[in-house]
Amino acid sequence: MSSTFSFQCLACCSQTKARAGVFFTPHGIVETPRFMPVGTLANVKTLTPAQLKETGAQMVLSNTYHLHLQPGEGIVAGGGGLHKFMGWNGPMLTDSGGFQVFSLSEMRKITEDGVVFRSPHDGQIINLTPERSIEIQNILGADVIMAFDECPPYPATRQEVEAATARTYRWLQRCIVAHQRSDQALFGIVQGGVYLDLRSQAAVALAELDLPGYAIGGVSVGEPPELIANIVQATAPLLPPDKPRYLMGVGTYREMAIAIASGIDLFDCVIPTRWARHGTAIVLGDRWNLKNAKFREDFTPLDETCACYTCQNFSRAYISHLVRSQEILAYTLLSIHNITELIRFTQKIREAILGDRFTTEFAHWLTPGKMG
Ligand code: GUN
Ligand code: ZN
Repeated sequence: MSSTFSFQCLACCSQTKARAGVFFTPHGIVETPRFMPVGTLANVKTLTPAQLKETGAQMVLSNTYHLHLQPGEGIVAGGGGLHKFMGWNGPMLTDSGGFQVFSLSEMRKITEDGVVFRSPHDGQIINLTPERSIEIQNILGADVIMAFDECPPYPATRQEVEAATARTYRWLQRCIVAHQRSDQALFGIVQGGVYLDLRSQAAVALAELDLPGYAIGGVSVGEPPELIANIVQATAPLLPPDKPRYLMGVGTYREMAIAIASGIDLFDCVIPTRWARHGTAIVLGDRWNLKNAKFREDFTPLDETCACYTCQNFSRAYISHLVRSQEILAYTLLSIHNITELIRFTQKIREAILGDRFTTEFAHWLTPGKMG
């Protein structure tokens, strides 16, 4: 793989497998551990790129499934590629689309070749294969592209998960062959459901392929949250130590802290922006509904300790008013705060790892407990 990508570990925690590092990409660095905001349709909902940058965002996600359906990868390429089209010149990652087909579209059919589904826009039949997903991602032009995988549902029998995991491996091999751009890094995805031996097997097999990065998928799909820690513990340590590790779809304080302790570097989750659109703020790991009567005359900021634009300029009472009035600014201000909050949490962990204070400073988040 191209030398434009590398991962440098700066410090390892003496008590856990946590590490602090830097991931180098053609569009800049990603300091890890770090939360990555989700910009499904080539935008992080309600934020301009300038507002997004101010949250501390470094790498931003987008989605093959959504961009293929609308506006189509040809339009994105015509606009100069994903970075230029959406005005974000920092690192970007696209997910491969399979996972979104399973969760969002009807009439899907999975075969060895790929996934066939009906476009929710115009009913057109769409055939997404490993080759097609990589081709689309090559055209979109994100720095990191994801392998086309099959995420088994939860619950699923061992036999079903075994078949999906084996197919994901075969699809990964097809993705590697199809991948055409050395300025993009193809990450493999470990599946295996809640079956830890399948997870370990898959991790070992993927590690041998010497990819520029690895993800753990198939978590947060309905399994009991305490199982996520077991899955990550059984998987992350088997992945190459000199490559970034990304836990897909996870973004609560406790799950991130525990995963970081097993050696995870990157996270993404729609929670901060989705909750923002529901009038919910994330404050120190808790969720607050701004419609609650107690905020109506509360003239303090959401979080006194937060340096985000929202907390520096507005009160809970003002945001509560905007939410009650369904003003769009409410969602912008809450998205700014929520994304800043999650990024700041991972950044604080990073600083703690660099000073070898992770287990003492984050003890509260490292014990299983309520979600947060
Ligand atoms: N996003 C969250 N989980 C997954 C997964 O298992 N696979 C892919 N491709 N994307 C995801
Ligand atoms: Zn804030």
